[in-house]
Amino acid sequence: MLKIGIIGVGTVGTSVCQILEDNKDIITARAGVELVPVAGVVNNLSKKRDVSIKITDNPDDILNDDSIDIVVELMGGVEGAYNVVKKALQKGKAVVTANKALLAYHRYELQDIAGDTPFEFEAAVAGGIPIISALREGLGANHIESIKGIINGTCNYMLDKMINEGVDYDTILKEAQDLGYAEADPSFDVGGFDAAHKLLIMASIAYGIDAKPEDILIEGIENVSPEDISFAKEFGYALKLLGIAKTRGDKVELRVHAVLIPTSEMLAKVDGVMNAVSVVGDKVGETLYYGPGAGGDATASAVIANIIDIARKGKGKGSPMLGFKTSLESGLHLADKGDIETKYYLRLHVEDKPGVLSKVTTILGNRNISIKNMVQNSVDETSANLLLSTHTCSEKDIKEALEIFETENLVLSKPAMIRIEE
Ligand SMILES: NC(=O)c1ccc[n+]([C@@H]2O[C@H](COP(=O)([O-])OP(=O)(O)OC[C@H]3O[C@@H](n4cnc5c(N)ncnc54)[C@H](OP(=O)(O)O)[C@@H]3O)[C@@H](O)[C@H]2O)c1
Repeated sequence: MLKIGIIGVGTVGTSVCQILEDNKDIITARAGVELVPVAGVVNNLSKKRDVSIKITDNPDDILNDDSIDIVVELMGGVEGAYNVVKKALQKGKAVVTANKALLAYHRYELQDIAGDTPFEFEAAVAGGIPIISALREGLGANHIESIKGIINGTCNYMLDKMINEGVDYDTILKEAQDLGYAEADPSFDVGGFDAAHKLLIMASIAYGIDAKPEDILIEGIENVSPEDISFAKEFGYALKLLGIAKTRGDKVELRVHAVLIPTSEMLAKVDGVMNAVSVVGDKVGETLYYGPGAGGDATASAVIANIIDIARKGKGKGSPMLGFKTSLESGLHLADKGDIETKYYLRLHVEDKPGVLSKVTTILGNRNISIKNMVQNSVDETSANLLLSTHTCSEKDIKEALEIFETENLVLSKPAMIRIEE
């Protein structure tokens, strides 16, 4: 028998206890040993719990209990969780966590502390989708050329409703909050930070990149307008928030932002709260992983998969070579935040008068930015929105052109820019 202590018995922790009970027979058969949750830790002891384990409010009750083999960290947050996980590993307990924020900041330190002690985190990225094991094991023979993920269900749900039902941003944000998809403070989701944490974890497995959220480009979906959506529809694009990791020469671009992608691509068809990750390996080509990125049971499914794996291998026989490693590929390094080459969509609110269009095209042309599609929509009697997409160019040139549009008062309001991935 292996004894499990669960630090954080909320949505996921409760599901972990229930599934270990509901599916005890198959889990025991697969693990080769009975997996028994024996104790849990919570903040508020007076809340009613749907679990039958002993509940306390002191993590040390689990961390100092030598009979507990595996600690499951499901309390969330960064520093409190770090202290708990660190102590558990130092005491030689195997650890399973679903905490992407913790890993976004402390994954390399914790991997070092773990050494040979199992330290697993499948549920931290894309909830129930086994993307970590796919990257670590299934795709082990490949150089990873790119990872593109719809890894925040809240944003995907909101964009889906905005595009397919014409619902405006504020209305759909409120609906997402009422449905429990978005937090009361939704900035973590809609600002792209949650997706960035998950992207950093995947990039560490694929490339050994020890970057922190502050080191990479993170933008959210707050500035997407109905006009951007109309343009996307007119020119055959879907609008998604993607976490993108891709190699260019000896650089790895890591970025999270709204993206226009052709509707023919598989990721474009992922709607609602579902998650999907496309991984391109140099030998296998494109592979796609799709499923629920959140929810108690789906996330607990991934947590328990890690526990079963630990039980099978035997505690003390961890797999550090499959954890976070630096310099997996010699010479590969993180590209600067602004060092991006892609295609762009621009929305420019300009005066509707002769000469403006030619000034815009000259400023773009001077920076080798060529236009692919353009539409002009009247805003009122004197002004119009120019909506245009470009061929591939550098982000530095686009940002410079946008700045000149503003300093030369060519635009009447701040220009909008969305990157295109195709
Ligand atoms: N929910 C999902 O769909 C999902 C998906 C993927 C990953 N995750 C990750 O899984 C983790 C847990 O998420 P969740 O949705 O289950 O969160 P949750 O429902 O808020 O549960 C958190 C639990 O931790 C307890 N807790 C919080 N701070 C504590 C502290 N300082 N000391 C002791 N106990 C503490 C809470 O106690 P009380 O019950 O007393 O408040 C609660 O039981 C997070 O890292 C999250 O990012 C969640």
